[in-house]
Amino acid sequence: MIELRNLSKVVQEAGRELPVLRSVDLSIQAGDFVSIMGPSGSGKSTLMNILGLLDEPTSGEYWFEGTNVRKLSGSKQAAFRNERIGFVFQAFMLIPRLSVKDNVEVPLLYTYCPRKERKRRIETALEQVGLLHKLNEPVVHLSGGQKQKVAIARSIINDPDLLLADEPSGNLDAESKEDILRIFTSLNRMGKTIVLVSHDREVAEIGKRILTLRNGEWTETSDPAPMGVAL
Ligand SMILES: Nc1ncnc2c1ncn2[C@@H]1O[C@H](COP(=O)(O)OP(=O)(O)O)[C@@H](O)[C@H]1O
Ligand SMILES: [Mg+2]
Repeated sequence: MIELRNLSKVVQEAGRELPVLRSVDLSIQAGDFVSIMGPSGSGKSTLMNILGLLDEPTSGEYWFEGTNVRKLSGSKQAAFRNERIGFVFQAFMLIPRLSVKDNVEVPLLYTYCPRKERKRRIETALEQVGLLHKLNEPVVHLSGGQKQKVAIARSIINDPDLLLADEPSGNLDAESKEDILRIFTSLNRMGKTIVLVSHDREVAEIGKRILTLRNGEWTETSDPAPMGVAL
């Protein structure tokens, strides 16, 4: 479904060129659940932002179901992102004063969707994360875990092919973390392709496979799990 080939990203820092990603290859099959681990600064968010079409690589190819996405114009890329990719961030990125419903609806504002269908989609998405009862609540009133559930509902509202989650439980307490992980597992079982970044092994282990980035490159991912749990 997704192929990254020889993907590199170089940024300018203090007048010098800093390689952030070095010839990264990645193949993701439909239905896959890939976890990406790695120390802080290893390039995980940069890779996610490129996958999510929020950032451009310096070189390399990005194929998404036969589409060479780097060849799309800016507006085509924006439409592609909105329709086919859902994003969940560590910091939720919600609009605080708006209600749960209005936050979840945001991606629908950029595509044609009749009012009835919009309502149905919002309710289905909120049901999937267990927050239908908070429909009209302003997001400011919610706990961190509930905010992240709203963000997940928003990320799936357009029924995207690919769901990207960058440290989704990084700001959450243990109980909310478990909830969020259960939601991702169930979305994957329902067929969503997921790429999840976490430096927390317990979180990464919900994926079907774990890849590790170090200094902008994949490393051997054979470091054994604690207590000999098979990956
Ligand atoms: N636009 C940018 N300008 C300068 N430095 C950047 C930029 N984007 C990323 N970096 C640097 O690239 C490295 C990797 O960043 P990031 O992808 O955020 O890592 P991670 O998510 O693994 O912590 C860091 O050293 C960061 O400072
Ligand atoms: Mg990061």
